[in-house]
Amino acid sequence: MKVIKCDNYDAVSQKASEIVIDQIKKKPNTVLGLATGSTPLKLYSNLVSAYEKKEISFKHILSYNLDEYIGIDRNHSQSYYQYMHQHLFSLVDMNEENIHIPNNDVTRIDEIAELYNKDLNKHQIDLQILGIGSNGHIGFNEPGTPLGNETFIVELDEQTRKDNKRFFKSLNEVPKYAITMGIKNIMRSKKIILMASGIEKADAIYQMINGRVTDELPASVLQLHPDVVVIVDQLAGSKL
Ligand code: F6R
Repeated sequence: MKVIKCDNYDAVSQKASEIVIDQIKKKPNTVLGLATGSTPLKLYSNLVSAYEKKEISFKHILSYNLDEYIGIDRNHSQSYYQYMHQHLFSLVDMNEENIHIPNNDVTRIDEIAELYNKDLNKHQIDLQILGIGSNGHIGFNEPGTPLGNETFIVELDEQTRKDNKRFFKSLNEVPKYAITMGIKNIMRSKKIILMASGIEKADAIYQMINGRVTDELPASVLQLHPDVVVIVDQLAGSKL
């Protein structure tokens, strides 16, 4: 793993956007793996700026999102479908048919994971963007998830629900389930960037890099991937 320490969140986002922009310039039909949450927000706004300056186009980009909540509708303000459209897709020339976000239709609960997985496996992600949970999750692969999993439906960890409560009115409203790419899907990506900012990520970042590879800290499996760049700010990297 290559670790880049930056002064602050803006510098983390700047570094990550340089890598993504470079990738898109080199390969305009890049397959991107995308994350949601607070961490990539500035990265996405930097990508939108680069698009507005005509440095890059998303016309031929294919995207696969890591995960989606189950139990809220796609039209809910906190769905990852809405998040992606609000912060990236509706602001660039992304082709709607090239966008893949796991379907969270509960009436099709038996098949949605398999269908997403089948679709995902038709391609190889060129560049996967990851954040990390304070409990070491990537995607929604919570501690204890088998490292060989492909796309599956997960019961969210209490810690994750508490961490994500800030986006909802109360803990009760935070969904209990999600659909997520599995570790195996993430590990198939050619290149991975993991971004982290803030003191609440410091322990997970330390364990991910220096701990043993264990399903108790799913991000630790990235030690086994040949091309991972970890970009942290001073607080997230403070235990390294
Ligand atoms: C989101 C995702 C999660 C987040 C993680 C960190 O699509 O897969 O693993 O990256 O929970 O979230 P933030 O960035 O909000 O701290």
